[in-house]
Amino acid sequence: MRQQKRIAIIGAGPSGMAALRAFAAAELQGDTNPEIICYEKQDDWGGQWNFSWRTGTDHYGEPVHSSMYRNLWSNGPKEALEFAEYTFDDHFGRPISSYPPREVLWDYINGRAMQSGVKARVRFAHAVRWVDYSEEAAQFTVTVDNLRTKETVRETFDEVIVATGHFAFPNVPNFTGIETFPGEVIHAHEFRGAERLKDKRVLLIGGSYSAEDIGVQAHKMGAQQVTMSYRSQPQGFAWPEGMQEVPEIVGFDGQTATFVDGQVREFDTVILCTGYLHHYPFLSRELHIESPNNLYPEGLYRGVVWQNNPGLCYLGAQDQWFTFNMFDAQAWYVRDLILGRAELPSAEARAEHARAWLERFEAAQTVAQQVQFQADYIRDLIDATDYPSFDLDEVVRIFLAWKADKQANILTYRDCTYPSVITGTMAVRHHTDWLDEFDDSIERYLETPKPQVTQ
Ligand SMILES: Cc1cc2nc3c(=O)[nH]c(=O)nc-3n(C[C@H](O)[C@H](O)[C@H](O)COP(=O)(O)OP(=O)(O)OC[C@H]3O[C@@H](n4cnc5c(N)ncnc54)[C@H](O)[C@@H]3O)c2cc1C
Ligand SMILES: NC(=O)c1ccc[n+]([C@@H]2O[C@H](COP(=O)([O-])OP(=O)(O)OC[C@H]3O[C@@H](n4cnc5c(N)ncnc54)[C@H](OP(=O)(O)O)[C@@H]3O)[C@@H](O)[C@H]2O)c1
Repeated sequence: MRQQKRIAIIGAGPSGMAALRAFAAAELQGDTNPEIICYEKQDDWGGQWNFSWRTGTDHYGEPVHSSMYRNLWSNGPKEALEFAEYTFDDHFGRPISSYPPREVLWDYINGRAMQSGVKARVRFAHAVRWVDYSEEAAQFTVTVDNLRTKETVRETFDEVIVATGHFAFPNVPNFTGIETFPGEVIHAHEFRGAERLKDKRVLLIGGSYSAEDIGVQAHKMGAQQVTMSYRSQPQGFAWPEGMQEVPEIVGFDGQTATFVDGQVREFDTVILCTGYLHHYPFLSRELHIESPNNLYPEGLYRGVVWQNNPGLCYLGAQDQWFTFNMFDAQAWYVRDLILGRAELPSAEARAEHARAWLERFEAAQTVAQQVQFQADYIRDLIDATDYPSFDLDEVVRIFLAWKADKQANILTYRDCTYPSVITGTMAVRHHTDWLDEFDDSIERYLETPKPQVTQ
């Protein structure tokens, strides 16, 4: 009989990397870890932050995972996502701005994971195809394709951590007549850069972050007109000239779209910013989250443990105000359950806990209440682990200041700066205003600004 527990982590994005780091931290404290294998279908880690120019399928014929685009900069202040046990100061050794571009944040998460030497635990280019559970053996069998050697392997595990994210499978609703639209129609998942939108009349369907940020990018890159169509409620920012919100679409007739308020407009390009699906093609329906993108998906105790089979945990399954530090809190808690440092309550107690949190979630209606809800959720996890505590209420205040900055000016909010709640270090303004910065590379970002010539 096998003595050592075996744990599978599926996905090496920020959540899977947090799990690897959590186990590495326990090992440093003298704990004996189970055997851990992390399967990652891409050639490198970083998940969404591991940018690909490809769309559709990748060089292995697998669905492209990342929905990020070349010009993506953080859309929330980095002070709200900072790891409590690996700060931006630790990594960069100097203050940086509050809204770094994608490559800089990839560098940060990569730096922490490299420091803990966990890369050897990851089997890259391994796509998980199916996860079976045997009641009798109380074990999972994970079927995995090695994409390089084209071998299929089956391995057994005592517990499985699903960390595959939920912003990779686009939600693609139908719109009447859209098949007659002669221009390009894509989903935000396939959007890779806004330069091609120069001089175009762009229609973005959706009223959330993708519509907002792709809209602002398109404006920055010289789109002639950016129209954003919302279904439930307008985003309500003070849009610059050339950007506008309109209500829901009635339908398309060729290049022309009609909206429910009677407006009729012509477009050159349509981008569906209609969100993503919780989709886990390697899980049967008994193990699969069925939820809209929200802050407390049903079926998960403490937002991580699958109620119907606590051997299966999810990381990062929630909609995200907080990101990297929330994944850490979740990973530390799941690790503690696996190591026996924390005790899993009975099924009834778990259901009761989840019910109480679902009630709180449903009562959280305003943005302030929702951010506070996620902060409280994270605090509950941190209190149960030895993850370093940090001032979550101060992060909530930073989020609310961020909201106010966006309200004040959607084109300049990325020039604002905040202090770290962990180190107290005040961020510095980037050497170039975001609106004037067309080079998103880490080299350019970390470049020392040339001294201004004053007359
Ligand atoms: C367009 C966009 C912009 C964003 N911008 C920000 C931002 O500015 N700031 C912020 O904090 N957050 C942002 N986010 C949120 C983002 O989801 C998180 O920052 C983070 O990447 C989530 O980490 P994750 O590990 O849970 O999932 P992911 O990052 O999605 O990683 C999941 C990993 O699982 C792997 N995988 C999937 N299926 C399989 C399989 N079958 N077998 C093996 N491996 C598999 C994938 O290849 C991937 O590496 C953004 C998200 C999107 C979509
Ligand atoms: N760093 C960045 O700058 C950046 C950029 C883009 C995205 N992101 C991240 O990416 C994640 C996903 O954001 P997202 O905006 O893609 O998804 P999202 O937040 O889940 O929002 C989906 C949007 O699609 C709308 N929608 C869905 N079905 C529709 C339909 N049939 N008709 C019209 N509208 C429909 C929804 O409207 P309802 O409100 O009516 O449901 C909602 O506005 C977030 O975590 C976000 O932070 C970050």
